[in-house]
Amino acid sequence: MDGATPIPQGTAYGRQNPTYDASLTEVGTGTPCGEWLRRFWQPIALSGDATVRPKKVRLLGEDLILFRDRKGRPGLLYPRCMHRGTTLFYGKVEDEGIRCCYHGFLFAVDGTCLDQPCEPDHGLHRDAARQPWYPLEERYGLVFAYMGPPEKKPVLPRYDVLENPAPDERYVAVIGGQGATGDDTFEIVPYSWIHMNDNVMDPFHVQVLHSTFTVVQFVAEFKVMPKCDFYPVEDGVCYSAYRKLDDGREMDRISHWMMPSIMSVPSIFFDAGPSTSIGWVVPADDESYFQVNVRKSRDNRKFSLPIDGKLWHERTDEEKQDVPGDYEAQVGQGKISLHSEEHLATSDRGVVMQRRMLEQQIKLVQNGSDPAGVIFDPAKALVHVRSGNFFRAEPKREPVPAE
Ligand code: FES
Ligand SMILES: [Fe+2]
Repeated sequence: MDGATPIPQGTAYGRQNPTYDASLTEVGTGTPCGEWLRRFWQPIALSGDATVRPKKVRLLGEDLILFRDRKGRPGLLYPRCMHRGTTLFYGKVEDEGIRCCYHGFLFAVDGTCLDQPCEPDHGLHRDAARQPWYPLEERYGLVFAYMGPPEKKPVLPRYDVLENPAPDERYVAVIGGQGATGDDTFEIVPYSWIHMNDNVMDPFHVQVLHSTFTVVQFVAEFKVMPKCDFYPVEDGVCYSAYRKLDDGREMDRISHWMMPSIMSVPSIFFDAGPSTSIGWVVPADDESYFQVNVRKSRDNRKFSLPIDGKLWHERTDEEKQDVPGDYEAQVGQGKISLHSEEHLATSDRGVVMQRRMLEQQIKLVQNGSDPAGVIFDPAKALVHVRSGNFFRAEPKREPVPAE
């Protein structure tokens, strides 16, 4: 029709119902992603959090009770007592384990029932059932749990960047929320673990969210838009962000994401050399996670910088609008991001590489194989972490011709 007003295109009317990718986000028992995640040791608490006061923890969609018996052994038990089902949260911890508050069944850290005080001879049949439990190990000031099939239990890896602390170094571990920045923590972050996991292979947001869009949250050297190379490695994906600095030096800032959800990024303080820290994104359930960071340190320096002198949790909504950070960007994606609505671009190639690797590995486990990144041979337990700020060799200068 000549002269007719053009019909506007692309309005919000009639759009499809959006969906998320369940295969990458659902972490419960029996889900493909959940079974893959259960094949790895997961850090679940600081060692100091496992005490004689039982503590509720939520991991991969399961509610559990963490405690430490009075002989110093940490334990992680299914909360419902195998007798008549009250919670062990109200139990009392003793030398040998935790005693249920209701009829006094005593459970060791491996779920063995040691005493049934209301039964003849303290329970002639107390071996008949066991309180469901998960194995734990401690390292770097953290408690790690293995929640997968017992016959597939790998060794707990060691990470070269965390090994051999100097005499004046110690492990500084924090557990908490977005960014896990020490004092600046959320106990549980209220959205899917995959939001944070994607973020690890997304260096371009540093130059926008953390620089131009807000105030510079990183040191000045990182303001320069990098040239990024992404490449798969045997246990994950790396990227190298190349920068030519104002003083002529050239630097590769290498980040390493290791399966299942481990990240090691270089110092934001521009310290040269290998990274000295590692972080884990641990799903509490489909819609929440917590983050665990540990590093070798000679000081009490925090993991990130405060903005305008305030930590994230101290800021008002208006202040967060004015200067949004990772938490705002990721909580803004919803409880689980709607993948059907995404339009991935060239700057997402690291995220795409990472998600493809996740899909492949999850399928491997579904088909009965062992995933990459789990280690069964104790002699091979040392993992090489590739991240760091590495200067390239000085370019050779042409000799100045004699006058
Ligand atoms: S319910 Fe725990 S001992 Fe009875
Ligand atoms: Fe970020």
